[in-house]
Amino acid sequence: MNNEHRGFTSNIGAILAAAGGAVGLGNIWRYPYMLGQNGGGAFLLVNMFFVLAIGIPLMMTEFVIGRRSQRNVVGAYKKLERKKGWATIGYFGILGAVLIYAFYSVVAGWTLNYIVMACSNQLSGLTPAEVSETFASFTSDSFWPVFYQLMFLILTALVITFGVQKGIEKVSKILMPVLFILLLLMCVRSLTLPGAKEGLGFLFHPDFSKLTGAGILGALGQSFFSLSLGMGAMVTYGSYIRKEDSLFKTSVWISVCDLMVAILAGVVIFPAVFSFGMDPAGGPQLVYVVLPNVFNNMPMGALFAAVFFVLLGIAALTSTISLQEIIVAFTVEELHWSRRKSSIISLLVIFAIGVFCTLSFGPLSDVKLLDRTIFDFFDLITASYLMPIGALAMTIFLGWFYPKVEVKDEITNGGTLKGSLFEVYYFILRYVAPLALIVIIISGIIG
Ligand code: TRP
Repeated sequence: MNNEHRGFTSNIGAILAAAGGAVGLGNIWRYPYMLGQNGGGAFLLVNMFFVLAIGIPLMMTEFVIGRRSQRNVVGAYKKLERKKGWATIGYFGILGAVLIYAFYSVVAGWTLNYIVMACSNQLSGLTPAEVSETFASFTSDSFWPVFYQLMFLILTALVITFGVQKGIEKVSKILMPVLFILLLLMCVRSLTLPGAKEGLGFLFHPDFSKLTGAGILGALGQSFFSLSLGMGAMVTYGSYIRKEDSLFKTSVWISVCDLMVAILAGVVIFPAVFSFGMDPAGGPQLVYVVLPNVFNNMPMGALFAAVFFVLLGIAALTSTISLQEIIVAFTVEELHWSRRKSSIISLLVIFAIGVFCTLSFGPLSDVKLLDRTIFDFFDLITASYLMPIGALAMTIFLGWFYPKVEVKDEITNGGTLKGSLFEVYYFILRYVAPLALIVIIISGIIG
């Protein structure tokens, strides 16, 4: 296989595809409610610090592993390792991708239902109690949420079968600009509402007294989840980045896009929430239960509701693509399956597991694992354990068991880039990031 044709055709294509993988429900659904529960602006500042100090170096680490090896998550370690055994990290990543995708596709499926409801005007005119009731009865149904979940999985698999250039890169190049435009449109709408100032104050005025230790860890965990780190999504996409592109600049661009979308989502949501006297700490249901009320109270609300849920759906789709590609790249390269066969089989496996996550809002709501519903359990073990453990294993491999000269060679593109910050990166790789990860993992265990 010729390297030129293996992966993304341009740097902007790589940035948009990987930013698509990073920007997702994490930014528009998870970030605002985490922020709402953790003191607003203070959470934002701490999260921003973690993205810059640890997120970017970790993303570069995944890119180095992927591009150096030109392989999927498992193949990468097989190719780079000096002693056997490191490929376990890769299998761990695949397991993580399956589990994340299983619960992530539930919420992704909800977006389809809400797009349909917004477009057919079923959301307007409802009282707040009816909005909550609509959400509860939809999510606890045993058919429709499963149906929409399957639709989302099929949509994703379809893009994947078209391949890296004609599927992933092309779709990202179209959808990411659309996402930005829709997001800006929503910002304008939100900022022109009466009371917008108060929402902005909440978002940008840091109240550190509301930020607890758990909030700080939450901000760190959020930066991993949001940048898609630890499971090899960025190893896989890294293997598609052209040899002449700067891994540092590419990582910075992706992280800046990801942060910007999260902040802009806050700019959309909080002014609207405050303007209509809703609770900013509404939790995971914030965008599905709080926002429809907000839309109901604004002029042309039905239109903006539709725009908002399309936006959420696009963000979710480019992320589910990156999740499935981790698995498909592995089965194509290591097991020599065709892309089509890989897409279909991985879809079926994820659906078989994901159904349980969907039904845990309805018929299976009494099934508890560690005191949590199946959905919450998957969310917890992936975000609190698998992702940080995966990321820790990667930093140990690249920082301690792979020659420094080769890391430097990959980051400086064989010495053609300056690499003046290389020592800073290497220090973070070896000491700072592993320590931060160990703290997250331990604090997760002791609760
Ligand atoms: N980053 C995505 C989001 O914010 C979620 C995601 C996509 C992800 N691919 C991933 C998380 C791979 C971990 C690993 O919604």
